[in-house]
Amino acid sequence: MAEQDGRLPSPPESETGRRIGYDIPALLNMRQVLGASPQRGPNDTPSIITVQNFKGGVGKSTVTTHLAHYLAVAGYRVLVVDCDSQATTTTLFGFNPHFAIRREETLYPYLSIEPTQDDLAYAVKKTVWPNVDLIPSNLQMFDIEYELAAAGTGGGGVLASRFRKLRAGLFELAQNYDVVLLDPPPALGTISLAVMQAANALLVPLAATTPDFCSTVQFLSMMDQVIGQLTAAGITVEYDFCRLICSKFNANDPSQDMVQRVMDQAFGPALLPVPILESAEISHAALRMMTIYELDKPIGTPRTHKRCRSNLDEALSQVEQLIRRRWGRPAMQQPSTLASVTV
Ligand SMILES: Nc1ncnc2c1ncn2[C@@H]1O[C@H](COP(=O)(O)OP(=O)(O)OP(=O)(O)O)[C@@H](O)[C@H]1O
Ligand SMILES: [Mg+2]
Repeated sequence: MAEQDGRLPSPPESETGRRIGYDIPALLNMRQVLGASPQRGPNDTPSIITVQNFKGGVGKSTVTTHLAHYLAVAGYRVLVVDCDSQATTTTLFGFNPHFAIRREETLYPYLSIEPTQDDLAYAVKKTVWPNVDLIPSNLQMFDIEYELAAAGTGGGGVLASRFRKLRAGLFELAQNYDVVLLDPPPALGTISLAVMQAANALLVPLAATTPDFCSTVQFLSMMDQVIGQLTAAGITVEYDFCRLICSKFNANDPSQDMVQRVMDQAFGPALLPVPILESAEISHAALRMMTIYELDKPIGTPRTHKRCRSNLDEALSQVEQLIRRRWGRPAMQQPSTLASVTV
């Protein structure tokens, strides 16, 4: 109706006159015109979510990037901060961290022992998504780890001040966004600690395998100790929500089914009920430096692609609901009609 009465531009059509769906700018405009934006109100606190686990390869970067793009399709303003010198998330945004990113564009100048930046605005990079920005990373980011570890042995004052600086800087930047997603490195280092205390929500990805389960249990108990130590040092850590998400579930593997049941018992309602399914579509998209939300056509069969996409929508909407709950908003309906969105 809005297209017919001129409030919205006519729907885009292919050369043969077939409707081809909308791109993200068109969707954002549509929401604005129709007063249907899901963005937070001025008094709602932006969600700053750390996607964290000390175990490597559990899907932190995959969850971070897919969650960013899922939320962007839904109309939120998102900032992704790559805090890992491996820079997988930066790569999944299409930037080659070795050639396209300089150390001056990462968190380094802000967190270094001899900082050259006082706020984080310099580091915010536009992406091809109009409503997703990125603070990228590269290998040289690891220098922060050395510098802060060395500073920590000499009393910890510098360390605590960098922790506060990261928290304050991210909080200030977050005022321009609805959700900030942090992707820390897979280790208990100083950057991981800094990120942990800068966030106001925690999402822990893990696969339904025995090694992932065991190291996640360890991660949670270490986290408990670390939060106790930080609190004793006068740094408070408060999370709006803490949830675990199974990040690559293979339903055809009976051993995973068993571990999933153990996880259910161990974590109870902290484990999100809908897991992200393991899918070749996700790993193939990663090879192209993309997420599923950026593919304009399936890589595998259309059926595989559709199943993967609708599972991601369902799994990630669980996180969206937690974010919205904090803002006192009702849950959104599944965006199943958005299957043909392109960027
Ligand atoms: N649901 C999934 N289906 C298929 N492959 C997946 C899925 N989730 C993650 N992967 C693959 O698993 C590998 C590890 O994922 P990812 O890089 O996201 O983990 P990570 O926890 O960020 O790793 P690191 O600890 O090195 O930072 C990648 O090759 C990724 O493509
Ligand atoms: Mg990673």
